[in-house]
Amino acid sequence: MKPIVLSFDQLPPFLTDPLNARFDFHHAVDKNDLTMLEKLAPQVRAIAAKGETIVTRELMARFPRLEIIAVFGVGYDGIDVQAASERGISVTNTPNVLTDDVADLAMTLMLSVSRRLVFADQHVRTQAWPKGPFPLSRKVSGSRLGIVGLGRIGKAIARRAEAFDMSIAYTARSVKPDMPYRFYASPQALAKEVDFLVLATFGGASTRGLVDKTVLDALGPNGYLINIARGSVVNETDLVAALQENRIAGAALDVFVDEPNVPVELFSMPNVVLTPHIGSGTVQTRTAMANLAYANLAAHFDNKPLLTPIPR
Ligand code: 8YV
Repeated sequence: MKPIVLSFDQLPPFLTDPLNARFDFHHAVDKNDLTMLEKLAPQVRAIAAKGETIVTRELMARFPRLEIIAVFGVGYDGIDVQAASERGISVTNTPNVLTDDVADLAMTLMLSVSRRLVFADQHVRTQAWPKGPFPLSRKVSGSRLGIVGLGRIGKAIARRAEAFDMSIAYTARSVKPDMPYRFYASPQALAKEVDFLVLATFGGASTRGLVDKTVLDALGPNGYLINIARGSVVNETDLVAALQENRIAGAALDVFVDEPNVPVELFSMPNVVLTPHIGSGTVQTRTAMANLAYANLAAHFDNKPLLTPIPR
């Protein structure tokens, strides 16, 4: 009998095709669909999740035979890792393969918000150009970059920023002595010294609301916030207020607290760029992520070592 693999998410065909071929794969549209759960839950041995999927202790408890949660994404802040550990449930993610894309998007957002790319494009499309020139924007090259979280993605952003002659500083849980960038002990201290504050830290309880009014006020009226990490890292209410009151220069956001819902106040702001969580969203990267997520599941059921278990 093929092992039962369950997903609560709409996964792409390049992941569901191999899952269907090898496993008895089911897509549960609703976590609270009790009829489905009653029938299937006792037999489920694996969950295929997305980076933003919430798998609580209570949800896990409905699957007595659950052995592994394979996350199709690098972030696993939605998974109750403690509950999984207690039951010996493995958790895997897809690090490395998406680093370049997410760092590329951070640069894209930084350039887009400061050069007002979205509005410049509209200026041409709406034929406003013949009526008058586009307002001047702000220079990126040579400016000061602050990175919150200097992991794989943070480092990849820093490497790209070096080519833009930016001065680079960071904050992280600890100093990275092998890195040539300036360290600040807190996001507030970092924000005070930079033009662009880029969030590249992990999500979850330890970073929830890390970027609040105090950080935004330290960033100040000439500073831009870029978030390609998790919406939860930012206090969204504080961010909306800071933008409304021009206490920061602008923001470029790929992630939000309650995706796909975005605070409507942001929609009309000309100094804001919004993207729908597309950091890893290229054909090449999503395919590589799917291959890795599948390979982890296959390794588990072949009794082979997991390729990318999350660090414990
Ligand atoms: C995707 C992500 O949104 O890797 C992550 O942590 O947030 C993204 O890559 C997603 O999980 C793809 O399913």
